[in-house]
Order: sequence, then C-alpha cells, then structure tokens
Amino acid sequence: MELQTAQAAPYLELMKKCLTRSIFPETLRPFARPTRSLHPVAWAVFPLISGFLEKSNRVICRRVKFDPAAREDGSDYLPDADTMIGFKRLNNLQHCIEQVLRENIPGDLIETGVWRGGACIFMRAVLKAYAEENRRVWVADSFEGLPRPDGRYEQDDGDAHWTQKSELGISVEQVETNFSKYGLLDDQVRFLKGWFKDTLPTAPIEKLAILRLDGDLYSSTMDSLQNLYSKLSPGGYLIVDDYGAIGGCRQAVDDFRLANRIETPMENIDWTGVYWKKQA
Ligand SMILES: C[S@@+](CC[C@H](N)C(=O)[O-])C[C@H]1O[C@@H](n2cnc3c(N)ncnc32)[C@H](O)[C@@H]1O
Repeated sequence: MELQTAQAAPYLELMKKCLTRSIFPETLRPFARPTRSLHPVAWAVFPLISGFLEKSNRVICRRVKFDPAAREDGSDYLPDADTMIGFKRLNNLQHCIEQVLRENIPGDLIETGVWRGGACIFMRAVLKAYAEENRRVWVADSFEGLPRPDGRYEQDDGDAHWTQKSELGISVEQVETNFSKYGLLDDQVRFLKGWFKDTLPTAPIEKLAILRLDGDLYSSTMDSLQNLYSKLSPGGYLIVDDYGAIGGCRQAVDDFRLANRIETPMENIDWTGVYWKKQA
C-alpha cells in the first residue's frame, strides 16, 4: 500500500498534540492531599476543607509550569491528557503502524493496558488517516486499574499499583467518551474488558500487526505475551512501554524472549519504551 504521508501528517500531528495536551497545556494541578513535608495540622485540616469545597464542585489547585521536554518523553504528571506515553512513543507507534500498512502485514492492532485510551485513540486515528477500513483496534483493560498480585509470579509480590484505583482505574464508559471526543468511536474499535488472564486467552482476535504492551506488572506483561505474541504476524511490531521504567515488566519480556528463543534485537524508543519487528 502506498501511503500518502504528507496528507496524513497534519492530522496526526494535531492528534498527538491534543492527546498529550501539548496544544493547550494544563496550567492547574488539583492538589490532592498535603505532602508529608507539611505540618501535621495540614493533614488534619485538608480533608475537611477539600470535602467542603467538593460539595460545591470546587477543588484546590496549584499552578504548574508546562515542561515540553517531559511531555516529549512522557515522564510528567498528567491531570487531563488522554495518554501518558508522550510524543516519542506516539511517534514510534505511528512509525510502526505506517510500516505495517506500507508492507501489507496482516492483522489488527491492540494495546493491553490503555488507561484513558489515548494510545488506542491514536491507533484508530492512524487507520483513519490512511482510510484503512479492514483492521480493528482492540482496547484491552480491566477499566478498574491494575490487579492485586495473586501470587502467580513472585516478581509482582508487594506491588502496590492496584491500590491506585482513582488514578489508574478509568471506566470503559469514560474511554468510549474519549474516543467519541475525536470522532473515532466506531465498529473498528473493540473493547476487551476484564483481567488479561481472563480476556486474552479467548479474545476473538485472529492476527495482529501491532501488539503494544502497557500493563506495568510482570503478570500483565507475561499474560499479554503468552496469549498474543503467537498471533503477531511476521513483520508486525511488538512494543513494550515499561521496559526501562519497571523491573517486573522488563523481567517478563526478558523471560519470554529467552523461553521462546527470540533473538531479534530490541530498539530503544526513549528512556523506557522498546520495540522489535517480529521475524519470520
Ligand atoms: C500505565 S496504564 C496504561 C497507559 C496507556 N497505555 C496510555 O496510553 O496512557 C496501565 C493500564 O493497564 C491496566 N492493566 C494493568 N494490568 C492489567 C491486567 N492484568 N488486566 C487488565 N488491565 C490491566 C490498568 O487498568 C491501566 O489502565
């Protein structure tokens, strides 16, 4: 397929700026609770004041300065953005999708671990930009945050991500709304709601051209690889968001590669993301 990249580029650049809120940077950050450095009195008084304000739809905020470099590599705090992954990893995602379209590598696109949906919204946008109507975008998440470690893998023992439900548990309705904001919620988008260990083994996916992992944990990464890597077409791309940032994720990828004798070198995307092209 010959790609009209010059025509698609302005739309996709605008999408990346919107999804990361680089176009209208956040200037206020909700002040969730006092830090430990504050006086103990602040700990006691803050919930009372914030509870009172919330009743009339008000929150305490502090001003923040937008840092373009941090948004470039997805390392800053995001009150409003639709994705955590930053420009470099969005650029990588675009590059991989354009390659599989150009080379006619068969299969759908999936992200396992979507949060507010931004990377999946971008996948759908790239398909739209190239009028690709035969591939689907699979959006896999619990939509209630990370699982509590269940003892299957000792690498996850003690991990406390599951406690961060209010920050990481974004409902499927909210993610659908986020797709709709960009006019990208349609039949080519499919949701897989539930824990990866339950949804991925029976997911009605035949082939994948892009497999993007962003589930943070050893178990979430391993469940995704064990259930989906065999469906990735040769020439398709495996992308791992958390390889540099999270030891458990890195260990799962290394263990899987060793067990399956995958020797294709990994390429670095930025300080945490890696990817490789599946060999025949
Ligand atoms: C770091 S966030 C994903 C960020 C997202 N890719 C983006 O573009 O901003 C991790 C997500 O993985 C999901 N998750 C992690 N492990 C999971 C599992 N085993 N089953 C289902 N969802 C999981 C969480 O609910 C959360 O939404």
